[in-house]
Amino acid sequence: MPLERYLTINLTYYHVANEVPEISPDVAVVIDVLRATTTISWALKNGADSIQVFADLDLLKKSAIKWNANEKLMLGERGGKKIEGFDLGNSPLSVTKKVVKGKRLFMSTTNGTKSLQKVQNAKHLFAMGLPNRRAVAEKIISLKSENVLILGSGWEGSYSLEDSLAAGALASYLIANYDYEVNILNDELQAALALWEFWKNDILKCLKTATHGKRLTSLGDYEEDFKCCSKLDCLEIVPAQVERGVIRAS
Ligand code: MLT
Repeated sequence: MPLERYLTINLTYYHVANEVPEISPDVAVVIDVLRATTTISWALKNGADSIQVFADLDLLKKSAIKWNANEKLMLGERGGKKIEGFDLGNSPLSVTKKVVKGKRLFMSTTNGTKSLQKVQNAKHLFAMGLPNRRAVAEKIISLKSENVLILGSGWEGSYSLEDSLAAGALASYLIANYDYEVNILNDELQAALALWEFWKNDILKCLKTATHGKRLTSLGDYEEDFKCCSKLDCLEIVPAQVERGVIRAS
């Protein structure tokens, strides 16, 4: 087989977890721009030891209780609001160095952690927001894996504009920077690429136009969260699954 064809990257995008077929992809990239995967990226950048993700709150509490209070934090939201009794909500601004350094973060969110759990069987599983898009793309290029599944998080099973924007941004970077062929295997990703071309010069406006953006705005002043989640390629960090449900900086 000629070298070029062997190094082709095939990209597929699914909007939400319940659309993903029962497969174990080489590489899976989970996206939750507002806000789970952005928060994961900043928490690891700020020195958190690891993040353990849960779709189920009871399972999270059963796991967290085994850890000493000074070694752990519980963070997450439901409906955009901090979960009662948790240390933090899901804002990327809350995971500062002072708060998270050296700690294991037990995390559960409405959608993002569901998507991370859905593709736990992947050989390589990465969490991506817009701040670490380039870092994740370069990791994919370095792996030269043939099949890459991109998974959004949406909102309770429905489509999300901001996650598709980020999927388009990732595909666009790979097409522009990978020396070999990049195949777009489904229309979901073709549409995401077109979305990126349309909104790439006004990402902040896209996030605020999105239904989840409007949901957050209805809950309070999230201006700084929007700014943080819309910043492109400012974080050289690749959150990677190291064991089932546990994510560390790679
Ligand atoms: C989610 O997982 O649904 C989001 O990250 C929710 C949020 O943080 O607003």
